[in-house]
Amino acid sequence: MRGLKSSLSAAFLSLVALNGSGAQAYRWFNWQVDITCDATGFFVPANESELIEFVQYHHPLKTHLRPVGNGHGFGNLTTCVNDGQTDRESYILSLTNLKHLDIHDNNTVTFGGGWDLVDLIPTLHDKGLQVHNLGSEMVQNYIGAATTGTHGTGKENQNLATQILGMRVLDAKGNVHVIDKDNNLDAFRVAIGALGLITEVTLQAEPLSYLKRTSKVVEGSKNITKLYEEIAEIGSKYEQININGPNLVWNSSSQKLEPSTSLTFVYWEETDYKGATNCSVNFCSNDCGPCNRDYICYDYKMNGIATTPPGICYRGFMGQFEHFFPIENLAEAGTDYFNYAISQGDRLISYQEINDVMAEQNMARYESDDVTVITRFVKGDDTWLSPVNKYNLQPNASGIFATLEYSWMPSYNNYTLQWLYQDLASEFIPKFGETYDVRPHWNKMQFHNETYTSTIFPKMNDWLDIQEEMDPNCQFVNPFMINALGIDRCQSLFQ
Ligand SMILES: *[C@@H]1O[C@H](CO)[C@@H](O)[C@H](O)[C@H]1NC(C)=O
Ligand SMILES: *[C@@H]1O[C@H](CO)[C@@H](O)[C@H](O)[C@H]1NC(C)=O
Ligand SMILES: *[C@@H]1O[C@H](CO)[C@@H](O)[C@H](O)[C@H]1NC(C)=O
Ligand SMILES: *[C@@H]1O[C@H](CO)[C@@H](O)[C@H](O)[C@H]1NC(C)=O
Ligand SMILES: *[C@@H]1O[C@H](CO)[C@@H](O)[C@H](O)[C@H]1NC(C)=O
Ligand SMILES: *[C@@H]1O[C@H](CO)[C@@H](O)[C@H](O)[C@H]1NC(C)=O
Ligand SMILES: *[C@@H]1O[C@H](CO)[C@@H](O)[C@H](O)[C@H]1NC(C)=O
Ligand SMILES: *[C@@H]1O[C@H](CO)[C@@H](O)[C@H](O)[C@H]1NC(C)=O
Ligand SMILES: *[C@@H]1O[C@H](CO)[C@@H](O)[C@H](O)[C@H]1NC(C)=O
Repeated sequence: MRGLKSSLSAAFLSLVALNGSGAQAYRWFNWQVDITCDATGFFVPANESELIEFVQYHHPLKTHLRPVGNGHGFGNLTTCVNDGQTDRESYILSLTNLKHLDIHDNNTVTFGGGWDLVDLIPTLHDKGLQVHNLGSEMVQNYIGAATTGTHGTGKENQNLATQILGMRVLDAKGNVHVIDKDNNLDAFRVAIGALGLITEVTLQAEPLSYLKRTSKVVEGSKNITKLYEEIAEIGSKYEQININGPNLVWNSSSQKLEPSTSLTFVYWEETDYKGATNCSVNFCSNDCGPCNRDYICYDYKMNGIATTPPGICYRGFMGQFEHFFPIENLAEAGTDYFNYAISQGDRLISYQEINDVMAEQNMARYESDDVTVITRFVKGDDTWLSPVNKYNLQPNASGIFATLEYSWMPSYNNYTLQWLYQDLASEFIPKFGETYDVRPHWNKMQFHNETYTSTIFPKMNDWLDIQEEMDPNCQFVNPFMINALGIDRCQSLFQ
């Protein structure tokens, strides 16, 4: 196989030599540098036609193809297939040169796969436009973020993917598919990289608007059941809100993980006030500055809700999952999750040589402690693999979801500890998944198997049919997807 691979590489090198690009082994890392893969090569097409040529060349060779953005994920969803893991070559693709952008009637915008939020949002702003909602950080590639189910908060706000009205997608043979509401849009909006190479999207933008952001600190009950009743109550009061806390903090003298039930909640309201644009001065859900304090700020919507890369102060290892479930389950699920996290505190003992972090908590960063919990809200949708899909909800459910995001933060990067975090993160679905109808975020730590996936995504098998049509030779899938979705026809490649 080695010999065959080399001759394929040689053939490919001569092809790319004609095009003036190069192919060389390429190691990829995700953003916190704990997930990595080693591809045979890296290809950056100048435009869609060059990408089509590349894909057509590689289809008969069955090369693994993985487009990457900025690697802003916590799990194995976005990794490439390692060189040597199968008998095929494996390429990472960057669509960064696909940078066209056209604005049409009715504020719809069509743009290429190369746009990252950090460039897209200011460009739209210059044209008097914005997107309807964003996550808390403006760091991802737009298509990567949207099609993995990224969301912000708001009981009337849906995830980014619902803003997409159409797409251009290349299948594994290099054929272009135009996807729109009459053609499988609900399957493709959350495509998780497995339905083809998305070269362009059209989304519904909107005129600029302004928000007032209010941040408040309250002392929650020490009784965790009561605390989560309070959290559910606060959540029900505001349309668009993040609730930061409770936290678990390592106390080095008692050698215990202790709950800190102080909550910082942040809510947003529409405003006409344009006299100050000072939210991005100190965005407090992102580890920078003393954020657990009362304050207000005003800003243009995008800067009021999402931080640009310079405002993000923590990029080290962490364990993180985010679980979505019907909002009706918040008080009970929140209590069970937090009590479980507390009960596992002893497993962290051998990793705690550091000083009492509780003492430092109020000094620099908001999240300078061991475990933080953030609660947010998302309105449900009909996208087949959306974690907030409304298929199979109770008939009396509101269709609004709450999310719990758990982050285990180490004092320094240590793989042994990171693996413990993975173990901890993997234990919540088996314990609570079925009880609370929990659906994990695709691009955070996520471990569930095919059986569970088909329960939370009733359209999984229809989605897999499209996956097979678009990718008959398993070029777009990786072991994570094969396991999570039970893509049996691709399994043997990896044995
Ligand atoms: C795509 O890029 C290649 C390489 O720069 C160029 O030769 C070709 O004309 C471009 N095609 C289109 C349609 O722009
Ligand atoms: C990612 O894959 C590696 C290699 O299989 C595995 O060790 C690790 O636990 C996985 N990480 C997550 C978060 O699933
Ligand atoms: C224009 O956009 C709005 C959403 O902003 C949508 O509801 C409406 O259907 C669109 N109208 C046309 C003619 O496309
Ligand atoms: C904790 O709060 C719950 C809900 O308010 C209440 O039913 C329970 O009695 C409280 N437990 C204690 C020990 O006070
Ligand atoms: C840490 O534990 C010690 C000993 O049990 C206790 O006296 C102290 O109050 C705890 N510190 C905090 C901040 O809870
Ligand atoms: C932002 O500006 C408003 C209005 O001047 C002011 O009341 C508020 O304190 C400022 N907030 C911050 C975080 O600077
Ligand atoms: C990581 O943590 C483990 C467990 O405490 C320890 O044995 C190991 O030496 C640490 N590794 C590094 C590189 O600090
Ligand atoms: C929905 O119906 C179930 C079963 O009848 C009931 O237990 C639950 O309280 C109801 N939920 C709401 C939000 O009304
Ligand atoms: C799949 O996951 C579910 C839920 O965690 C678990 O109960 C079941 O045993 C798993 N099945 C297999 C085959 O691993």
